[in-house]
Amino acid sequence: MESLFGVCSNSFLPSIQTHKNSVFLPSFNSPHLPRIKSQNWVSLKPHNFPPFAASKKRELKCISSDERLGTSVDEDDSLKTGVRIKNLAVFVSGGGSNFRAIHEAIVRGEVHGRFVVLVTNKHDCGGAEYARKNGIPVIIYPNTKGEPEGLSSNNLVAALSTYGIDFILLAGYLKLIPSELIRAYPKSILNIHPSLLPAFGGKGYYGQKVHKAVIASGARYSGPTIHFVDENYDTGRILAQRIVPVIANDTAEELAARVLRQEHKMYAEVAAAICDERVIWREDGVPLIQSKANPEHYS
Ligand code: GRF
Repeated sequence: MESLFGVCSNSFLPSIQTHKNSVFLPSFNSPHLPRIKSQNWVSLKPHNFPPFAASKKRELKCISSDERLGTSVDEDDSLKTGVRIKNLAVFVSGGGSNFRAIHEAIVRGEVHGRFVVLVTNKHDCGGAEYARKNGIPVIIYPNTKGEPEGLSSNNLVAALSTYGIDFILLAGYLKLIPSELIRAYPKSILNIHPSLLPAFGGKGYYGQKVHKAVIASGARYSGPTIHFVDENYDTGRILAQRIVPVIANDTAEELAARVLRQEHKMYAEVAAAICDERVIWREDGVPLIQSKANPEHYS
């Protein structure tokens, strides 16, 4: 998780010790700190903000009242809440219904973030078309014969740096994420998978294959999982899950549709949590979401 204080916040920090990519805060009785029982729970990762993002941070921190007149409503809002609006990248290969659900939640004001770029391996997929219609730039990755405009892994990392990306949301992106990107965005890349991981995950489990395997297994429950991304398919730390019943005569399509409805709600809620800086890393490495309504509650 990144700094709880984002843009305007370093002045709040009473004392910090840096340890590799993390900053551990003692649990001070500060209104700005999350209420955590153990100080070991508070692991705040300063981002490897690219220069662009770092300069944005300074701009907001040093903003004057005159300059504030020129800020957008969103930036003004972030100054009020003290939490900087997060720059999101989304990776999509298909229709992009999860991307659209999150985008709609942003438009409704439920997610303190904005999509600044979409990455796809299919320039004409539904998600890319939706992005263009909404003024969101589209990057093609990877470079293949079919997609000669596609970027190399290093150029993708460089391009995302120029957008000042805070978090990357994989939403039905079917290619493996390059290790360069995973190293550049530790604890900052999320994926959604349509089964209750660790069941029915890993290489080969995608699309209808997942739901067919769930039905064939006789499992009575399924549901989506959102997890952080590591270098393997579907093995990163689980952040959120929802349960969906498997009905006796379900087809894979029916089960997929039921799971997808939950995906849309859950991904928008998780996007809101990461943008609000409500993800806390338990000392054993499990990420938890702090409830907005009840900050004493973690799930
Ligand atoms: C979803 O089922 C998601 O779980 C999986 O890919 C599908 C993407 O669907 N990773 P959409 O493109 O968001 O509609």
